[in-house]
Amino acid sequence: MNIRRVRAVVVAALVAMALVAMALAPAAASAGTSAGGCRVGAPGVGDPYYPLYGNGGYDVQHYLLKIRYNPATDRLVGVATITARATQSLCRFNLDFQGMTVRSVKVDGRRARWSRSQDHELTVVPQRHLKKGHRFTTVVRYDGVPRTFVDPSAPDVPYGWIHTDDGADVVSEPEGSANWFPLNDHPTDKATFTFVVTVPAGREAIANGRLVARRTHGRWTTWVWNSPELMAPYLATATNGQFNLRRYRTADGLRMYDAVDPDLYNLPIDPQDPASPTYGEIADRSLARQGEIIEFLESQFRVDYPFSTGGGIVDDAENLTFALETQTRPVYPWFFFADPVSGDSVVVHEIAHQWYGNDVALAAWMHMWLNEGFATYAEWLWSGREGLGTPQEIFEFFYNDIPADDPFWDLVIADPGIPNLFHGAVYIRGAMTLQVLRNQVGDRDFFRILRAWAKRRSGGNGTTAQFIALAERISGQQLDALFDAWLFTPGKPTYGAPAATATATATAGQAPPAAASLLRRLAEGASRTRR
Ligand code: TRP
Ligand code: ZN
Repeated sequence: MNIRRVRAVVVAALVAMALVAMALAPAAASAGTSAGGCRVGAPGVGDPYYPLYGNGGYDVQHYLLKIRYNPATDRLVGVATITARATQSLCRFNLDFQGMTVRSVKVDGRRARWSRSQDHELTVVPQRHLKKGHRFTTVVRYDGVPRTFVDPSAPDVPYGWIHTDDGADVVSEPEGSANWFPLNDHPTDKATFTFVVTVPAGREAIANGRLVARRTHGRWTTWVWNSPELMAPYLATATNGQFNLRRYRTADGLRMYDAVDPDLYNLPIDPQDPASPTYGEIADRSLARQGEIIEFLESQFRVDYPFSTGGGIVDDAENLTFALETQTRPVYPWFFFADPVSGDSVVVHEIAHQWYGNDVALAAWMHMWLNEGFATYAEWLWSGREGLGTPQEIFEFFYNDIPADDPFWDLVIADPGIPNLFHGAVYIRGAMTLQVLRNQVGDRDFFRILRAWAKRRSGGNGTTAQFIALAERISGQQLDALFDAWLFTPGKPTYGAPAATATATATAGQAPPAAASLLRRLAEGASRTRR
C-alpha cells in the first residue's frame, strides 16, 4: 500500500525468520542457555504485525503497578510486580519495555541480570532457572519520563502516555503500554491488575476497575484501583489530572465511576451563543445514559455486561484525538461531545467494545475489524432504536454514497496493515460486513452468532477465521463468498438489497443522522491522517 507498510512487512518477515531460526537451533547452542537444558523465552509471540510484542515462555497472571507521577516534571517512578507462570523451562525471558530507566530487576526475591535492546525488549536472566509450571514473581524498579508514541505516518494522533496540562491521558492501543510499564504486551496474554497510583494531592488518578482506597500523605494522594477481570494489557489506564469524579450505581446496580475534566464546564460549544451548552454538559448527558446503553446492548447481544464496574473519563486535552475502550472505563476526548447524537454514539461504541474487543480480544492485531466493525455496528443498532437511521439504512447510505473508485474500497479489511489499523474503512466496511451477514442469515441466526461469539470466547481471544466458522456453523450456510468479498478482497463488493429490505427509506446521498455523525467523528478523530 505504501512504503511504511512494505517496510513493516519486510521487517516482519525478517523477524519471523529469526524466530524460526531460534526455534530450530538446539537449546545448548543459543547464547544464554545452560547445560541444565533450560530454554530461552521467545522475544515475541509472532504477531504478524508486531512480531516482537508479547514474549514466549510464560503467562502473566497479575500486574501490580505502583506508580508515582508528577505532571510538573513529567517524571514517573514505578515498581511493577508481575506474577506469571512459566509455560516452559526458562533460563531467561523477555518483557516489553521501552524508554524508561531500569533500576533493578528481581525474580522470586533475588536480583536478576538484565539487558535491553534498542527495540523494546528487556531480557531478564534469573539466578535460578524457572521450571515449567513454576509461578514466579518479577519486580522491576524503574523511572523516567514516559514517552508518548508518535507514529511518523500519523504524527497528529499521539497515543500511549499523553502528557496533558494537569496530568496524563493513558491510552495505549496498540503498543503504547511498554512506554509506562514492563509487560508481556500482547492481547493473548490477559491478566488481572492492581494499580497504586500516586499523584499530587488535589489531582485524581483513574484506572480500571474498582476504587479500593485513597489516602493522602502530605502533598501526594495515592489511588488504589483493583481490576479483578482478565484484561488485555493495552487496555490498562492510569489517566490522571483534574477531574470531577462521580461514583454511583446504575439502575441495575453496576458500580460506576465517571470522571470529567471541570474545565469542560467552561467551554461552550458555540462561543457566539450565550445560551450554548458546554462540552461538559453534553458529556454529562451522554454519560448519564450509560446504564441505559448497557441495558440496550445486553438486550441486543443477549449477554450480560462482562465486567463488575463501568464509567467513563472525559478530558479536555488538545492532543488526545481518539477515544479508547480502556477496560471498564473508556477515555474520551472532549470534542466528541459537540452534540448529543455524536456523544451518545461514541459512548455506545466504547461500551460495545467491552464485549467485542475487551472480554473477547483479538488473537492478532490484523483482526482489528472484529473490534471496530462490531463496535460501529453497535452504534448502528443504537441509531435504529433512537430513530436516527436503521442499520440497513446506514448500510445503504454508505454503499450508495461511496463510489466504486473511491480509495475507501481499496483496503483489505481482514488484513489492513499497521498504518491502516484504524482506517475508517475498518470501522465502516467492517460494520457493513455484519449487516450483509445479517441480511444473508436472517435476524435470528445473526443475533445468535453475535451472542455465541461473546459468550463462548468470554475471557479469551478470537480470529476472523474463527468468527466465519462460527457464523457458518450457526447458520448452516456456506459463507465463504460473502466474507471473501467483504473482508478479503479489495474493491466494492456487489450487493443486491434483499427483497425484504428493498423498501428501506434511505435516499441516495442523504445521510441518516447517525451516519453523518459517524463520518464527522472519523474525520475529526482517529483516522484524520489515515485516510
Ligand atoms: N480503538 C479506538 C476506538 O474505539 C481507536 C484507537 C485506538 C486509535 N488507538 C488508536 C485510533 C490509535 C488511532 C490511533 O475507536
Ligand atoms: Zn473502536
